[in-house]
Amino acid sequence: MRQRLIATLIAVLSMVLLAVMPAWWRQPKGLSYALDPDQFAARTEAMAKAHASGRSTETGQPIVRPPEGDVYLMARRWSWYPVLELEAGRRYRLHVASQDVVHGFHLSLNDAERLLVPGRVEVVTVRAEKPGRFAIVCSDYCGLEHNGMQAPLLVTDKP
Ligand code: CUA
Repeated sequence: MRQRLIATLIAVLSMVLLAVMPAWWRQPKGLSYALDPDQFAARTEAMAKAHASGRSTETGQPIVRPPEGDVYLMARRWSWYPVLELEAGRRYRLHVASQDVVHGFHLSLNDAERLLVPGRVEVVTVRAEKPGRFAIVCSDYCGLEHNGMQAPLLVTDKP
């Protein structure tokens, strides 16, 4: 009787764990997480709309100045969207993902290097002590214009 009760308890517990696990697995935790590219594009677009600050004469992409916290950067053949303008001394969690093929993300500021596999978001902590202009380059061959897939990361002084 007691053994049966324990077996039932274990079975119920296993079912609960199995039900919860997929949701838990999708949570942004640690350094990367799975997310549909369309959903990632929507988050990036929402940030870009809410914090637009001009247009880069260099890359033609919009310049976006998001507040401290989560910021988004999209890689697609062969550009980075948008151009991010961050504030010195503040901490950002940069979420980076590809919309099409495998790209490589390299940021000169902290020498961060990530492989961008479509469907997976990489999270990089960014904090610049001083204002400046840093380089984002694609570090994995992604076709014809791979070498031109570059963008600045702008860091400004506190207002
Ligand atoms: Cu993108 Cu190389």
